Amino acid sequence: MSYFQQQAKIIEKVFVGPDTFNLDLFCPDIAASARPGQFVMARVDEGLSPLLRRPFSIHDTVDKNIVRLLVKIAGQGTRILSGLSTGQSLSLLGPLGHGFEIPTNLKNACLVAGGVGVAPLLFLGRALAARGVSCKVLVGGQTATDLLCTKEFSDLGFDLGLATQDGSAGHKGMVTDLLAGLLKEEPPQMVYACGPQAMLKVVGVMARDAKTPCQVSLETVMACGMGVCLGCAVKSVSGKILHACKDGPVMDADLLWD
Ligand code: FES
Repeated sequence: MSYFQQQAKIIEKVFVGPDTFNLDLFCPDIAASARPGQFVMARVDEGLSPLLRRPFSIHDTVDKNIVRLLVKIAGQGTRILSGLSTGQSLSLLGPLGHGFEIPTNLKNACLVAGGVGVAPLLFLGRALAARGVSCKVLVGGQTATDLLCTKEFSDLGFDLGLATQDGSAGHKGMVTDLLAGLLKEEPPQMVYACGPQAMLKVVGVMARDAKTPCQVSLETVMACGMGVCLGCAVKSVSGKILHACKDGPVMDADLLWD
């Protein structure tokens, strides 16, 4: 595994929702070698609290120089990040982990995003578009402001399906309702998904029942990000313990749920 540790300067911070922002970080070594589905570990504060690095999916890269993160404020670490300004730096370790696999003969795919789980799927979407893979993107959230990156996916020429639990945009219900219809009517060759664990399990089981390969990006707590602390263990269907940071974060759904 080849990775870099860099002091990354904040180039830009742009809020894309009430509590969600893009953070552009200048780190050429990491940006140039990053693959869709990989992540970085960021030390959000040089002080003692919070002590550990936090994992963030690589949301996008710009000009092979900049890593873009999509951050939702959800605790002390992300609140500290939201208070940082352009010109400040933070220590990044990456790119880490096992990313998405794109089969060479892939012609079409479905991307399923739950909330801020859309983060790694935009970077993946750009790679798929560059290979001419046509995509249906299903984006779900509790309410309309949770539906992120819809313009970016449209700009890539992808079809969009939206779902909100409160009905404020798109289908009223779960994003997996949309997937169920798609798998029945025009099943894709591959499903890629990221979002809450409960959503990923439903997606994985639906895809398996439809005999469609499915890769999921797990969002788990991580302390080291490098297979050392064993804090990100997940149990596979065979009983084998896997580590989200090293064996993932992208894994075949078949490995996780039967
Ligand atoms: S985060 Fe430490 S082993 Fe995975």
